[in-house]
Amino acid sequence: VSNCLVLLLSAISTVKSSIREQDNIKRSDFPNGFLFGASTSAYQIEGAFLEDGKSLSNWDVFCRIDGSIEDGTNGNIADDHYHRYMEDIEIMHSLGLTAYRFSISWSRLLPRGKFGDVNQNAIAFYNKIIDNLLLRGIEPFVTIFHNEYPQELEDRFRGWLSPLMQEEYVHFAETCFKNFADRVKYWITINEPNLFSEMAYERADYPPARCSLPFGNCGNGNSDVEPLIVVHNMLLAHAKAAKLYRERFKASTFKVNGVLSITVCAFMYVPMTDGKDDKEAANRALAFNVAWTLDPLVFGDYPPEMRRYHGSELPKFSSKESELLRDSIDFIGINHYGALYAKDCIHSSCICNDSSCTQGSDRPIRGFAYTTGQRNGVSIGEPTGMSRFFVVPQGMEDIVGYIKERYHNKPLIVTENEDDVSSISGYSYPANEDDDNQINDVKRIHYHQSYLAYLAQAIRNGADVRGYLIWSLMDNFEWSNGYAIKFGLYRIDHPTLNRIPKLSASWYGDFLSNSSIVD
Ligand code: NOJ
Repeated sequence: VSNCLVLLLSAISTVKSSIREQDNIKRSDFPNGFLFGASTSAYQIEGAFLEDGKSLSNWDVFCRIDGSIEDGTNGNIADDHYHRYMEDIEIMHSLGLTAYRFSISWSRLLPRGKFGDVNQNAIAFYNKIIDNLLLRGIEPFVTIFHNEYPQELEDRFRGWLSPLMQEEYVHFAETCFKNFADRVKYWITINEPNLFSEMAYERADYPPARCSLPFGNCGNGNSDVEPLIVVHNMLLAHAKAAKLYRERFKASTFKVNGVLSITVCAFMYVPMTDGKDDKEAANRALAFNVAWTLDPLVFGDYPPEMRRYHGSELPKFSSKESELLRDSIDFIGINHYGALYAKDCIHSSCICNDSSCTQGSDRPIRGFAYTTGQRNGVSIGEPTGMSRFFVVPQGMEDIVGYIKERYHNKPLIVTENEDDVSSISGYSYPANEDDDNQINDVKRIHYHQSYLAYLAQAIRNGADVRGYLIWSLMDNFEWSNGYAIKFGLYRIDHPTLNRIPKLSASWYGDFLSNSSIVD
């Protein structure tokens, strides 16, 4: 009995100390020069959808199709950042951000891709953003491709399904480098190839809304391998742009010596049981999600785990292409949103039967691993508004640890972290939630404190992490969820579009000045 008591007391004190540690997480727990910022993307915030020479994008067209966006909205106005960028930069400055990640709208900069001219109005707009950020000591952190491109490229040659998109992308990237690389030091070439290909070519949730087994047959003649082809084109596009950047733009003639990467959607996968098969399934899920993009960019080829299951279905790189891909990133960018259980589907059958289930067993694209947020009806963490997102702070330490091991501790930046938790008050809300609840988002504060505490632990374990960017600075257009899901530190009031700080914004500002309002 006394042994049990000792164990119990020590367990209680461990829990207490970890809670204390989370509440007390301080900026000074992170290395000097660690970037603390927030992220957005062009289509989600800019609005001005046909202003100053911008053309129709894939999203402008998709949103017009009945039923494609949950609440029937679109990004025509969004947060009107195109006209209110100065106010938004002042907000960032008042919070004390040291970095701001935003994306360049392809349909604004090159309305007709290579088929037309560069839009000088777009250059002027992004120059104003970059210059004003720098004036306030905020590092501009630029994503080149974030889900959005001129519809003309889709109409002419089917966008990312065609290798022609690689050359289009290189032209887009080169235009960005030529105009902005003298001041921008941090570049993300492509946002989340793994998630983009899944949403656009497997689940039909993003344009061009194609789908494949097991998500049905959209009737548009697509095949199961489309996500593989899309990521293949994206990786080669990235590698070509990276070579160009390193040869012509990275150093010497420019004032800044920049770094470039890609960013992956990086969920952590936890074995459903302690059995060997489920452990292997969790490893396969990680390889099929995270390593699908990162292995080629670090080692020059797809992960062996994928080759084993896909065989000839997985496209091949020529030796010249492998050479081009290998070591084509200077750091690793991850967007981390949660953890999921992984269950083996090779040795036992899997049937997707809950809303957080991501893959069945009937196709290999995720390595025959069934991933879900529930085990025997119990969630892996606090459930959120998005069926696959669960609050699992430990997942941050674990995913960073996995990447550290697999990629020999390459520098890493968390380019997005947050949870959209519309079903539970405190994180993000359905649009009709009352204002007070939206603003007093105590749970979002706890979310960041606990994720930061586990990130700090990963750093103490030796991981070379260089930054943490919150998704998102303000509520915005959450793709096919429309405005129903809210991630922001700031609330956008409708119809005035006024920016209203949530409690989490005050917390972030206090945290950055090294104190904490929740202590
Ligand atoms: C990742 C994407 O980069 C971003 O555009 C999106 O809004 C967030 N995840 C939340 O789903």
